[in-house]
Formats: sequence, structure tokens, C-alpha cells
Amino acid sequence: MDKCVLAYSGGLDTSVAIKWIADRYNVEIIALAVDVGEEKNYEAIREKAEKVGAVESLVIDAQDEFFNDFITRGIAANLMYEHKYPAFTALARPLLAKTQVEVARQRNAQYLAHGCTGKGNDQVRFETTYAALAPQMEVIAPAREWDMTREQEIEYAQKHNIPVPVGKGSPYSVDTNLWGRSIECGVIEDPTQEPPEDAWLWTVGVADAPDEPTYVQIEFDQGVPVALDGENMAGPDLISRLNTMGGAHGVGRVNMIENRLVGIKSRELYEAPAATIVLEAHRDLESLTLDRETLHFKPYLELRYAELVYYGLWYTPLREALDGFMAETQKRVSGQVTVKLHKGRCEAVARQSDYSMYDYGLATYDAADVFDQSAAEGFIHIWSLPARISAQVGRRLPDE
Ligand code: ARG
Repeated sequence: MDKCVLAYSGGLDTSVAIKWIADRYNVEIIALAVDVGEEKNYEAIREKAEKVGAVESLVIDAQDEFFNDFITRGIAANLMYEHKYPAFTALARPLLAKTQVEVARQRNAQYLAHGCTGKGNDQVRFETTYAALAPQMEVIAPAREWDMTREQEIEYAQKHNIPVPVGKGSPYSVDTNLWGRSIECGVIEDPTQEPPEDAWLWTVGVADAPDEPTYVQIEFDQGVPVALDGENMAGPDLISRLNTMGGAHGVGRVNMIENRLVGIKSRELYEAPAATIVLEAHRDLESLTLDRETLHFKPYLELRYAELVYYGLWYTPLREALDGFMAETQKRVSGQVTVKLHKGRCEAVARQSDYSMYDYGLATYDAADVFDQSAAEGFIHIWSLPARISAQVGRRLPDE
């Protein structure tokens, strides 16, 4: 019998998918849950897939890999889609899909399946990764194919003894990993309305944030955050600590209209305290350690990098080439940045680095000044030469 590796979350859609794919395609289902930092009971999820009918069910902890190979690259590129969304879901999908491909190879499976609908970005990200890494494997996208309403899906589940969440459950569709939490659907789909407080889980509202600020010092080594307040920490621990600290001050809430790859504009909410804090500190350290030209040029490529990640093009030559550029820029992005968290705001307030390009003697207006102001005259003379020539030519225009 052919085998299919299904990206399994433990939710209703992918549980129904186990039964639906097995029947429709006459294949054995291998359910795979990948832990990229969402806190949930993975053993219960593993057992559930078996109960529903998977011949094998496995959980792979990919938190370190997510941090080392994906988040750190995102940080180097100051990853932010449309200036607001730290693209954390987009960043995790290629890792999920890659892990699926690895399992499929080990098990000699011919099919890869995911539970995404036909309207979102995630289907594109999964399948573009499959195409890049395993073009010979076949894709099954049950939620895009089965044409069931929510009610029919629940009916189907009940008929096949698939557990259905009791009560009304969450009115939102949520995706969570180390780098953030996204909230979609329900009343959020009305962009004219402020989102209800119950959409937020990681962050308090500004009104409920403490009056006293918290300061946290983040140490970077070549663009990678490695310590908080002098304490070295593993990446995933550092990130979750910052999520807690930032969330308590209402840092990292995003409420935006976003352009999906499939052409739809959608209303999205995100909570990403750690990403907000780390990127604020990282950009600040870059301003201290990168030369002006690199600092001014890099954002052009960052824009492209964010698009590429969002569009699911992780496993492409362009992403690798851009990573090469980003890595080169990070060689001296080492040092400490102190960030102040207060009432929803997160602000770098102090920084230092062995590679600091800040020179007090050049910058000061005090007695320690070593800048030769007389040299400015000749500089400006040549700098302004094109302006002077333009003015002379302009005077010769007939209408002047
Ligand atoms: N709009 C975001 C993105 O495309 C979040 C998607 C969340 N995915 C989900 N299946 N709930 O990256």
C-alpha cells in the first residue's frame, strides 16, 4: 500500500484528513507533528492521530533547528513583511514541509499532505517546499479538495469517531510558534472594528500594562541573540523569556491589513513580543556597527527577503544568495543593547560594541573634539559642484 505523510496539528481539520485521505486515496497515513515552539501536549496529539487511524504517528522537536536555521536568518534580514508582520508562520512552513519530506524518504512514502485551505499562503509555502525538495512526490491537499462546510466536517467526524472539540471552541483560527502567534477569522474579518480583547493571549492591553518599565539587556554575537542580562541562554529559551517579558508590557501587538500571495487582502492580528524586541535591538546594534553605505543599502534587500519568505520561496537560490549577503553584514554585529519595555512600547535606549563605529572624539561638541572643521570647507566646495553647475546652466534657460 502507498504511504502518505500528513502534516498533523491535532486539530479537527487534520484529524478528519487522516480518515478522509486514507479512504479517498487508499493509502496508509503517517501523521507528523513538528514542534516549532507551540506549547501543547504533543504526546496527546501523537496518540490522537493513531486513534483516528494513522498507521504511524510521530512528533519531531524542531525548536533548535527553527531557531538556528530560520529565526537567526530572519533576524539578520530584519524580517518584516509589509513593515509589520514578522512573518513567523511563513518562516516555519518550509521547516515543517522539509521535515515531512525527510520522513517520507525514510518511510518510502509517495504522498505528502497538509491541511491548508485553498485561500491562504500556507498551501503555497508547503507545496513550493515539496516541489523544491521532492518534485517526484505527489501532493494531497484535503481541505482544498473535500468541499465540506464546517457542519459537514463535524458530521463526518462524528460518523467516524473523530473527536470534535466540545463547546464552541475558539472563535479564531490561530497559528503559533516561537516567533509569534497569529489570529484570524471570526469578528477579526471586519476591518472596520477594533479587535476584541479576547483575541489576544500573549500580550496585555496597554491600559493593563504596569506603570514601571522593565529594562532588558540583549547580547548579540554576529547578529544572533545569545544572552539576556548577562545570562547565556539557548535560543528557544531566550525567545520564550522575551515573549513573556514583552507580553507583560503589551509589546508586540500587530493589527494590520495584509496582502496575501493569492491576491486577497486580509485583516490579520499578530502577537510577537520577542520578535519585536529582538528586531528593535538588532536594528539598533546595526546602526552602531555597520558602516553607513551598508546600513543604507541593506533594507532594499531586506524588503525582497521578506517578500521571498512570505511567498514560500525559502528553498530557492535567491534566498541562499541573500543569506550570503546578510551573513557578511553580520560579522561585526556583536555587542549589547538595552531595551526599555513600557506601556506597549519597546525602545532601544543604550548600546555598546567592541566593533562600535561611534567615535566620541569625532561626534562631540565639547573640548575633546578632534574633528577638523576647516576640512569641511573644501569638502562642501566639491560636494556642491554639481548644484553650482546646474544653477549656471539654469540661468541660461530662455524663460529666465
Ligand atoms: N497571514 C499569515 C501568513 O500568511 C498567518 C497565517 C496563519 N496561518 C494559519 N493557518 N492560521 O503568514
